[in-house]
Amino acid sequence: MTLNIGVIGVGMIGQDHIRRITQVVSGARVTAVTDVDLDRAKAIAAGLPSAKALQTGQELIDDPEVDAAIVCSWGPTHEEYVLASIAAGKQVFCEKPLATTREACERILDAETAAGKRLVMVGFMRRYDEGYRAMKAVIDGGEIGAPLMFHSGHRNPSVPGHYTSDMIINDTCVHDVDVARFLLDDEIVAARVLTARKNSLASEHLTDPVLFIFEMAGGALVDVEASINIQYAYDIRGEVVGERGTVELAETNPVVVKGSGRFGGRVPEDWRERFIRAYDTEFQEWIDAASRGESTGPSSWDGYAATVVCDAGLKAMQSGERVEISLGEQPELYRTTTITGPTGTD
Ligand SMILES: NC(=O)c1ccc[n+]([C@@H]2O[C@H](COP(=O)([O-])OP(=O)(O)OC[C@H]3O[C@@H](n4cnc5c(N)ncnc54)[C@H](O)[C@@H]3O)[C@@H](O)[C@H]2O)c1
Repeated sequence: MTLNIGVIGVGMIGQDHIRRITQVVSGARVTAVTDVDLDRAKAIAAGLPSAKALQTGQELIDDPEVDAAIVCSWGPTHEEYVLASIAAGKQVFCEKPLATTREACERILDAETAAGKRLVMVGFMRRYDEGYRAMKAVIDGGEIGAPLMFHSGHRNPSVPGHYTSDMIINDTCVHDVDVARFLLDDEIVAARVLTARKNSLASEHLTDPVLFIFEMAGGALVDVEASINIQYAYDIRGEVVGERGTVELAETNPVVVKGSGRFGGRVPEDWRERFIRAYDTEFQEWIDAASRGESTGPSSWDGYAATVVCDAGLKAMQSGERVEISLGEQPELYRTTTITGPTGTD
């Protein structure tokens, strides 16, 4: 079966996912696209063999030639399209964030729970990265004992001009939030944010770098060092310290170069380069599951948890205080699949 996909929002990541669906992964084709910039949607559709441009996201979700939707529009618009997909009973892949407020995420949880079936996957692609998956396999295998701490490093060479101070939590650290929950298989119950001496290369309005610290329900601690103007590369670090061992992400380059009295390798230039294979795997697994009428990977609950933790992180950054986090009771629908990773389907 070929899964017919409709894409809502054909900006940067929407176009990249269309390339992935049409050129990299198998089992799907793009049959419809839409964008508030309709000319952009028409231009993208014209370059695809089987796609039409539709006026609105609702029209796209209702279209009989769309089996499943991908939401790649701006964050505040995600809720509307995810709810419409659930109402239509169609599988939906939503780029992060699931929604921008706790209340909006709760409306999605309520709708999906009422539907009685998982329909939503949230685009936390780090769960599909070979390195993080190998780390998780070591932790789950018990080799290092119970995890006590997770040190995460998220270093961006630079950020675009529209980047605001809140984005270091909402757009950058959100991935570390999800990967901490994934690796440690636990929820975050409190957060605080410490700010270091400011990087003089950062724009005046930005807080950079920050240390975002989480307390996990089981007592483990997580520190996320987020730097957004570190110039040298896009460098993602991760080390879990267990009771009798550690596991950490290895360098990603396949070769070590020696010369001029030094040795070294390449550090990725940006997130696309670092996570390109993770995005491909993410899409292949979503397409395979959606073709069977199933959902897989990060759920609405994971999207909800990330939004709630980032809200707490923003409060902690503004106040300098420790902020407690309560997610409330997890609906039964998510209990078998939450945090345990992309291999579980419902
Ligand atoms: N998983 C990741 O690592 C990752 C990476 C990049 C972006 N994202 C997420 O993907 C989303 C899109 O990011 P982007 O960088 O592609 O942004 P972008 O601005 O390049 O593209 C967004 C597109 O959505 C369109 N749009 C906005 N509102 C719309 C609406 N109501 N209906 C239809 N189209 C609408 C815009 O016209 C634009 O073409 C964001 O939520 C972002 O956080 C995730």
